[in-house]
Amino acid sequence: MRYLDIYPQLHTSQLILGLMRINKLTAPALDTLIQTALDLGINYFDLADIYGGRGRCETLFGELLKRQPGLRNKMVIQSKCGIVQDDDRRNIAFNFAKDYILQSTDDILQRLGIDQLDVLLLHRPDTLMEPDEIAEAFNRLEAAGKVRYFGVSNFNRGTHELLQSAVKQPLKVNQLQFGPAFASLVDHSLRTNTHLTGSPDRDGEVLDYCRLHGITIQAWSPFQYGQIAGPFLNNPKFKELSDVLAEVGASHGLTATGAVSAWITRHPARIQTVTGTTNPARLTEIAAGIDVNISREEWYRIYTTLDRDLP
Ligand SMILES: NC(=O)c1ccc[n+]([C@@H]2O[C@H](COP(=O)([O-])OP(=O)(O)OC[C@H]3O[C@@H](n4cnc5c(N)ncnc54)[C@H](OP(=O)(O)O)[C@@H]3O)[C@@H](O)[C@H]2O)c1
Repeated sequence: MRYLDIYPQLHTSQLILGLMRINKLTAPALDTLIQTALDLGINYFDLADIYGGRGRCETLFGELLKRQPGLRNKMVIQSKCGIVQDDDRRNIAFNFAKDYILQSTDDILQRLGIDQLDVLLLHRPDTLMEPDEIAEAFNRLEAAGKVRYFGVSNFNRGTHELLQSAVKQPLKVNQLQFGPAFASLVDHSLRTNTHLTGSPDRDGEVLDYCRLHGITIQAWSPFQYGQIAGPFLNNPKFKELSDVLAEVGASHGLTATGAVSAWITRHPARIQTVTGTTNPARLTEIAAGIDVNISREEWYRIYTTLDRDLP
């Protein structure tokens, strides 16, 4: 396993286990998954208050921490707030109001049964946000010892800079979707000043901004295509990509699944992979990819497979 020091005093694995899907697991299966993760050297666990609906995944993870209290101090626990959902789990608003952030964090801690979150992320930009209000909320959470570090998710460069101008804590994480079948983070800069597909700058060059400022990108849903439409591996629509990943992987002793994490890790931005697998064997394959260095040619071969022409 490779490790990063994103914040001072926070030594974290480059592979993060996302817990968005653990509501489908039994308690023993969850115990096995988490123990497998720890045995593989994964120490970073990602949640959000909406996962599973109304905090269900946090509740289940909190029950695990109660069953095995010794695990908490081996873990970096991250959660997110700011998305408001209705009873059918549709996003109906975003809310970065001070009181909303404070209450959401208290609720997260209560469900997890812990006193302090290691990292709190604002989940999706709220265009009605008042940066000074967020700053006040973060100061109160930090002063009360409820949150150690803060970050954002799905932010473009401008919104990140705007918020950072008001908030004194460094916002050193931006969680964004990225993977071989969803690569808009790199599409634009490879096609600057061309008419090729992918040339419009949809992300405000967030990748270069993060590299410039030492912000860690956490790549969510790396095995999915579209907006979490389903896994692309072994999907007939993505046969060529699956085949290329299998071939590149095999030349490094990895499966196609492991080649995905190797592809993300190969980028010099030191991106973290956030997988949401609930399968310990698959997690082991993904972890193996983190330690492998694929070549530049292999990286571009995987990238260009989905009709992504280079200029
Ligand atoms: N910040 C955000 O807005 C945001 C949005 C979405 C997710 N996230 C975070 O990102 C994490 C990962 O998201 P995700 O669960 O969509 O990620 P993912 O790792 O891309 O997908 C995992 C899902 O794909 C299935 N799958 C099937 N074949 C697979 C293969 N060969 N390799 C890997 N998975 C395969 C898994 O099934 P098995 O369980 O059977 O392996 C699981 O259901 C979440 O848990 C959450 O923490 C963040």
